[in-house]
Amino acid sequence: MAILKRLLKLLRKHSVHNMNTVASYLKVNGDLPRETLSLLSFVCKRDVSWIISRPEYKLNRLEIKLLDSLLKRLGAGEPLAYLRGYQDFHKYRFKVSPAVLIPRPESEIIIEAGLNFANTQEPAFFIDLGTGSGALILTLATEMKREQKRVFKNSEYLAGDISAPALKVAKENAKKYGLVNKIGFKRGDLILPFIKTVSKDSRALFIAANLPYLTPQEARNEASIAFEPKTALVGGRDGLSLYRRLLKQVRTLKARPFYLIMEINPQQATTLIRISKAAFKNSVIQKVPDLSGRTRFISIRNN
Ligand SMILES: C[S@@+](CC[C@H](N)C(=O)[O-])C[C@H]1O[C@@H](n2cnc3c(N)ncnc32)[C@H](O)[C@@H]1O
Repeated sequence: MAILKRLLKLLRKHSVHNMNTVASYLKVNGDLPRETLSLLSFVCKRDVSWIISRPEYKLNRLEIKLLDSLLKRLGAGEPLAYLRGYQDFHKYRFKVSPAVLIPRPESEIIIEAGLNFANTQEPAFFIDLGTGSGALILTLATEMKREQKRVFKNSEYLAGDISAPALKVAKENAKKYGLVNKIGFKRGDLILPFIKTVSKDSRALFIAANLPYLTPQEARNEASIAFEPKTALVGGRDGLSLYRRLLKQVRTLKARPFYLIMEINPQQATTLIRISKAAFKNSVIQKVPDLSGRTRFISIRNN
């Protein structure tokens, strides 16, 4: 809000007579002020406050060429995060490419759940299935490294994805946060690549699963996700086929405390609860709301 107010003030003060200045770009692209500002900051390699305080700054030829092409792609619907190559999530910035889903703020609840789990369970395995950019496991590990050093040291972090290009991005992000040796990245189907590792002892498991959960029709109808990878979005006919398979896989693990949190569309909650209850009769199964109060997650706790 504050940024938008400052922008409007700036635009009122400066005319567009002087072309190719910061002010002229913001005025011409007035329907997407935040995105234009972000791309100006990216192209000019300056932070947003520098851009806002220099409406008269004239872009050089290279900057103009790059910015014009990025604005064209933005206008065609390409997400800002892919154009500038990063997305902020929680307190951190992650590299993203069209090989990975752009991390969404809704998923922050998973971080909260992981940190709560760490408070109650001592050392554990923290597992992120369908890791994409790695944003969830890297945020969790970085926060634990800061706040719960001992648990961090004695816990293991595992992250998997079916997509090799996605894992490449996740590993680059892990390098940036100094965690590449702490996190065991593996390619494969859901929890299968980690069965051997977790079977070596009976430490508790925290499993985060933000798996593809859209139906093919939902994916087709939603223009805002047109540029994101289909393997990250579509979860079979009713969107829940990966979760069905995951529950079967988790059932084969040796009995131990675990907490599994699964991200979904709110309208899938009743079905996923039914499937979860059938798979885990003696566990605590709960709806977990997102920040807007909608059931965005189903959790299964096994003590
Ligand atoms: C909705 S995205 C979530 C990405 C990331 N966790 C996030 O929250 O930003 C789902 C991810 O699951 C991966 N995936 C799809 N099928 C999978 C499978 N069978 N096993 C493991 N990962 C899978 C996709 O490649 C994609 O990266």
